[in-house]
Amino acid sequence: MLAVSADDERSLLLRASLHLIEVEVDETPSIDQGCQLLDHTSPGLVVLDAAVPGSAAARERLARKAARCGAPVLALATATDPVACADLTLFPDINPHDILGAVSSLAANLYQQEPQAVQVCPEEQLLLQTHDLHRLVEAQQAERLEFQHRSAQQTARGLLDVLALRDIETFEHSLRVASYARTLSVAVAPELLTDPSTELGFLLHDIGKLGIPDRILLHPGPLTAQHLKRMQEHAVLGAQVASSLLPPDTAGAAVIHHHHEHWDGTGYPDGLKGLEIPLCARIFAVADALDALTSDRPYRRANTWEHALITISNDAGSHFDPTVVAALLQERHAFRALTALP
Ligand SMILES: [Fe+2]
Repeated sequence: MLAVSADDERSLLLRASLHLIEVEVDETPSIDQGCQLLDHTSPGLVVLDAAVPGSAAARERLARKAARCGAPVLALATATDPVACADLTLFPDINPHDILGAVSSLAANLYQQEPQAVQVCPEEQLLLQTHDLHRLVEAQQAERLEFQHRSAQQTARGLLDVLALRDIETFEHSLRVASYARTLSVAVAPELLTDPSTELGFLLHDIGKLGIPDRILLHPGPLTAQHLKRMQEHAVLGAQVASSLLPPDTAGAAVIHHHHEHWDGTGYPDGLKGLEIPLCARIFAVADALDALTSDRPYRRANTWEHALITISNDAGSHFDPTVVAALLQERHAFRALTALP
């Protein structure tokens, strides 16, 4: 099925409803693109959302092309625009039941499953409807989560772009270290990666540096004690900056807030110790150190790969979780492949 829709809510409703009858939906936000798709494909049905910008002539052209490939046109009208060229029109407020009914009457061949000619009693009918409702709610929730995740990724990308303008080194470090942290998570706790917030936390771990003044952030040498204290505020600042994307109870927020905690309790901002430190932050701390040690700094050259591993090993049990360090050493070849270092 082809859907020409530029409205996120209606697209979501359409996809979730058609998911119930296992109909694939190709989507496009413009009538012109819809016409182009109809030159190469033959969908069983074309859905045209009246909210998509386009003249009556453009809509007619789409309807003619749909007719040429035997596809009826279902219009999703707005309060003021009924879409004259459609075979059938649904008016606000459209619900899943309306969509499935319209699809059924316009294009029954879209159904993957044969209609069941089974007599059911009212109680069974009620159970079936409840089951369908559950499936619809689940499908809608999955679609909504996917939509929220895409939005969060776009916002995260925007924040990283701002960071790149401010401090290109921190930006580049964020990309590299996220890659290390992903690989290390696979080795230590792959379930962490099923939560999309984890990877966003990896990418945005230093986003709080946006709130640190240039004279401190871009200072080439060691910082004074006062400036170091200010710089350390980036962990808490970052968690605050990202809180609309990563609420405090998410793994991603924990990475940002706790990535400078030490296994022996001497880190910051909260001085957490051992297993008090969230696992995602313990993993990230090792990945962070690996990249820091193997990158050039204004005051020193990058360590070799082997020297970086020795340094991290020496800090297992003080700075780092020994289990995570052991995983790094065991998977050293996988990490080696991620870098061009000697
Ligand atoms: Fe940091």
